[in-house]
Amino acid sequence: MSSYHEQHLQSLRNKSLFSGDAFIDGQWISKEKQFVVYEPSSTSILGKVSDCDLEDFQTAIKSADQAQHSYYENTTGTQRGALLRRWNDLILENIDDIATILSLENGKTLGEAKGEVAYAASFIAWFAEEATRSYGVTIPSSTPHTTLMTVREPVGVCGIITPWNFPAAMITRKVGPALAAGCSVVIKPPSETPYTCIALAKLAVKAGLPPATIQVCPTKDRQAAAELAKNPLVKKLSFTGSTGVGKKLAELAVGTLKKLSLELGGNAPFIVFDDANLDLAVEGAMFCKFRCSGQTCVCANRLYVQKGAAKAFVEKLVKAVQSLKMGPGLDQSTTQGPLVNKAAVQKVKEHVDDAVSKGAKVEVGGKASMTSGFFFDPTVLSGVTPGMAVSKEETFGPLAPVFEFETEDEVLRLANDTEFGLAGYFFSQDIARAMRVAHKLQVGMVGVNTGKISAAEAPFGGVKESGYGKEGSLYGLEEYQNIKSITIGNQNVGAE
Ligand code: SIN
Repeated sequence: MSSYHEQHLQSLRNKSLFSGDAFIDGQWISKEKQFVVYEPSSTSILGKVSDCDLEDFQTAIKSADQAQHSYYENTTGTQRGALLRRWNDLILENIDDIATILSLENGKTLGEAKGEVAYAASFIAWFAEEATRSYGVTIPSSTPHTTLMTVREPVGVCGIITPWNFPAAMITRKVGPALAAGCSVVIKPPSETPYTCIALAKLAVKAGLPPATIQVCPTKDRQAAAELAKNPLVKKLSFTGSTGVGKKLAELAVGTLKKLSLELGGNAPFIVFDDANLDLAVEGAMFCKFRCSGQTCVCANRLYVQKGAAKAFVEKLVKAVQSLKMGPGLDQSTTQGPLVNKAAVQKVKEHVDDAVSKGAKVEVGGKASMTSGFFFDPTVLSGVTPGMAVSKEETFGPLAPVFEFETEDEVLRLANDTEFGLAGYFFSQDIARAMRVAHKLQVGMVGVNTGKISAAEAPFGGVKESGYGKEGSLYGLEEYQNIKSITIGNQNVGAE
C-alpha cells in the first residue's frame, strides 16, 4: 500500500512539478549527492533533492550575471510585467498541485497552503504592475543650463535565501521585485522545503522568463550557500530567517558592500486593553498566534491582557483553542498541522516547562499528545511573568502565553523591552489610545484591532534586530534598484 504522501503525490495533475532537481545555467540537474526532505506529520521521507556545492553556486552566479545584462537591456518594464503576469496566472492555474506539495513538505493545512500560494502569487501580480511604474525624477538644478534627472537601474544578480515557514511566498516576495526591476536571481531554497520553490521555478520558465535569470541551488552546505553573501558578482542579498544567521550573512556581505535586505526574528507583543472588543481580540489572537502552527515571524509571541479583561479573554481564547484539530495538513478535518521538525517541538516544550516551573498555569494543551509526527498541542498559559523565557525568546510554535498588566505605560515598557521589532498588535476601541500606542510600539508593522497585517501592498519589514529593508508595497521594488543621477550640463553651448 502506498504511503500518505505517495497517495497525494499521485493525485497531482502536473506530476512534473514535484522534482528534486537544481536549476543551473538554464538546465535542470539531478546531482549525485542528494539530501533528504521529511514529511513532518509522519516524519517519513518525502524525497531526495540535489545538494549543490560551491562550484554549483559559482556557476549559477556567473550564468545569472551573463543573463541579467541581456534580460534588462532587451526588455522594457511593460514586457517584464507581462512575463510576471503570465507567471502569476500559471501559479494560480496550478494552485492545487503547488499547495499539495507545499503542505506535504511544510505540514501546514491544505487551506493554509492554498492561502499561501495565492498570497505568493499576489506578490508576482503586484510587482508585474510595479515594473511599469519605475519612475525617476527631474530635479531643478542649481547650475544654469543644466538638467538633473534620475533613473532607476537593476542592482544586478540577487542572492535569495528563504525560510521553510512560507516555502512559496517568501520566494515570490523577493523574486517578484527582483525580476520586475530587471535583476536575475540565484535562489537557495530552504533545505526543509525545497520542492515548492522548484515547482515555482518550473512555472517561471514556462511563463517565458529567460531561464538563466532564475537559478535554483538547493543545498544543505552552508559554506556553499555563503557564496551568495561573498561573491562580488552578487550585488544584493535578500534573506529571511533568524537574527543570528542574518548577522553572519551581513558580516560576510560587508567584504563586497553588497546591498542587503534582512527580514529577521520577531517577538511580537499582542496587547488587549480593557476597552477592547474581546471577540475581535480572540479572533485576532487565533489568527496571528496559531496560523502556520505558530511558525511565522509575525506571530504574537507575548499576549498582554489588561487586568479587567484578562479572565474573560482567557476563557474565550481557551474555548477557541479547544476547537482546533491537529493532524496531517492534507486531512480534511485538520486545522493545525505539525511543526517543522523535532527541534521545533522541543523549543515549545522548553518554553512551557520553564514557564510552568516559574508559576504559570496551563489552561489548555501544554504537551505533545500525538505519538507520531512533529506535533505540539495548541497551548494557552496564564499567569506568565517577565522572568520567563517566553518573554524574551521567540517560541515559533503554538504557545499563547498570557501576561496581565495594569496601565498603558507599563505595557508599552514591557512590549518594547526586547531587541526585536518586527510586528506588534493591540486591541482598543479608544481612537486616541490607538494613535498613541501605534506610534509608541517600537516595531516595523502594527496591527490595530486586527491580527492580519500581511498583504502584497503592505510594507513588510522590521526595526531593531528584526532587520532592515521593506518587502512588498510601493517600497519593495527599490530594494532591487540603484538610483543613478544624470546631469546634462552646458545646454547653452551650441545655441544659435
Ligand atoms: C514570515 O513569517 O516571515 C512571513 C509572514 C507573513 O508574510 O505574513
